[in-house]
Amino acid sequence: MSKDPSLPDPDTMPFFEAFKKLKRLKPLEPSLGVMGFFFASVGVILCFFYLDYRAAVKEYRFPGQSARFMWLQSNNRWGRDRRVEFLGEEGGGCDVFEGDWVWDESYPLYQSNDCRFVDEGFRCSENGRPDLFYTKWRWQPRHCNLPRFDAKLMLEKLRNKRLVFAGDSIGRNQWESLLCLLSSAVPNEDSIYEVNGNPITKHKGFLVFKFKDFNCTVEYYRSPFLVLQSRPPPGALRNVGTTLKVDQMDWNSAKWRDADVLVFNTGHWWNYEKTVRGGCYFQEGEQVKMEMGVEDAYHKSMETVVHWIDTQVNSSKTQVFFRTYAPVHFRGGDWKTGGNCHSETLPELGSSLVPPQSWDQFRVANVVLSAHPNASQTTKIDILNVTQMTARRKDGHSSLYFQGPKLGPAPLHRQDCSHWCLPGVPDTWNELLYALFLKQQKRLDAHSNDSEGRRENIKENGRYRQFCQDFEFRVDGTPEQHTFGG
Ligand SMILES: *[C@@H]1O[C@H](CO)[C@@H](O)[C@H](O)[C@H]1NC(C)=O
Ligand SMILES: *[C@@H]1O[C@H](CO)[C@@H](O)[C@H](O)[C@H]1NC(C)=O
Ligand SMILES: *[C@@H]1O[C@H](CO)[C@@H](O)[C@H](O)[C@H]1NC(C)=O
Ligand SMILES: *[C@@H]1O[C@H](CO)[C@@H](O)[C@H](O)[C@H]1NC(C)=O
Ligand SMILES: *[C@@H]1O[C@H](CO)[C@@H](O)[C@H](O)[C@H]1NC(C)=O
Repeated sequence: MSKDPSLPDPDTMPFFEAFKKLKRLKPLEPSLGVMGFFFASVGVILCFFYLDYRAAVKEYRFPGQSARFMWLQSNNRWGRDRRVEFLGEEGGGCDVFEGDWVWDESYPLYQSNDCRFVDEGFRCSENGRPDLFYTKWRWQPRHCNLPRFDAKLMLEKLRNKRLVFAGDSIGRNQWESLLCLLSSAVPNEDSIYEVNGNPITKHKGFLVFKFKDFNCTVEYYRSPFLVLQSRPPPGALRNVGTTLKVDQMDWNSAKWRDADVLVFNTGHWWNYEKTVRGGCYFQEGEQVKMEMGVEDAYHKSMETVVHWIDTQVNSSKTQVFFRTYAPVHFRGGDWKTGGNCHSETLPELGSSLVPPQSWDQFRVANVVLSAHPNASQTTKIDILNVTQMTARRKDGHSSLYFQGPKLGPAPLHRQDCSHWCLPGVPDTWNELLYALFLKQQKRLDAHSNDSEGRRENIKENGRYRQFCQDFEFRVDGTPEQHTFGG
């Protein structure tokens, strides 16, 4: 993907740089600023301890006030016997995306300080986040049980294969989570390495980690729009800095095509701020469409992606996933106007509260994906339908804890309520990815003699048609995301 270097690219600008710029504007002496900041941080941390303590006491000590929790726990205990196993014979029709978050003491599945693949910005606990509740929630589908993540088994199934993530920095968030989950089963650290020697913190267009003992790679390609962003055609107006070619895939797509498992996501960049406002217009054929709106462009681009999957990806070889939009949770503003989520320490256990803009992001992709099974010659696309379950996890964001331990918590008006702490919510997306991946492996094994197998799968997948439901909107926020790390 080529980009005009003169354009500021918020996704690649380290957040710290932005913060420094901001700081320069302040009339305060640095030492005073630091002192004030220190005391404010101590205050915030103390507050957290108090709130957590109170929440813990309230939720766990008095059953009257925490009926929801008690119900979940007993539901969990009794429900387990009645639910079928997702990977079992009867588990086939289970919608794993419908369910509840349940407290599970055996979580998290790894610690960030044991995993060297995590960007500093996602190391919340190491960066000073005082509560750990957000690491303790397991996703429990209503009608079946997910298999517990078994890194050894997944690596065994990935032997001699490539697993590729392509998308924005939330995709990167998920990719790093998977690297941690998988590497927890590999005692020899040196046997996992980036094939070009690039460190994970150094942001390149793509990173390819190899698990040597399994000859498999787990790769990430930064491509927030999935379609091609490049120079405008000759003769374009001067205010057109770059264009998004809504009818052409990102150049890196040549490297995605032959992956064995392909996980797409997009959404967070499909807004006015990150496109037209920065001089990035939309192009169709040779024409820059100055009037084309973001939603229209997003829709057309999703069609390009789906068409590419249908025509370029070998469905006998590649399992394709599309992870749906992960909602942001800025309350009282967006990322640049002081929106916050730092006081959230518990999930929303009841209804899901998707901010309206998030819902728009979800809907556009969904319309295109829902139409997909009707096309002839379709490749099956497994939808990682995480939007609603993730909407409940307002407690899972990096919030103030995206800066290294030396810098400490960020000022209250600069929060990250788009990216996710690791360990945390993206681990669950990967547990679902794991479950669907294993399911597919089982089918392939079972149907390895049977050429009809694929076609059956396509029919079975028709259930992702009816997506649209009414939501209760409560959280303020925008689909804008924060800008460190990519
Ligand atoms: C390693 O995996 C690649 C595919 O990713 C394959 O082409 C190659 O043959 C494998 N090497 C060995 C030694 O099996
Ligand atoms: C698709 O993949 C299968 C399994 O890897 C392979 O046997 C087949 O030759 C491939 N088809 C094409 C057209 O490349
Ligand atoms: C796809 O087919 C279903 C019925 O099989 C129909 O209800 C739906 O409207 C179709 N969608 C499109 C986009 O044609
Ligand atoms: C595949 O076919 C072979 C013989 O052609 C048979 O022995 C084997 O049981 C079959 N496997 C499955 C899973 O049906
Ligand atoms: C996505 O999950 C929600 C439940 O969380 C469900 O209502 C919706 O129908 C699902 N959509 C698909 C395509 O599975």
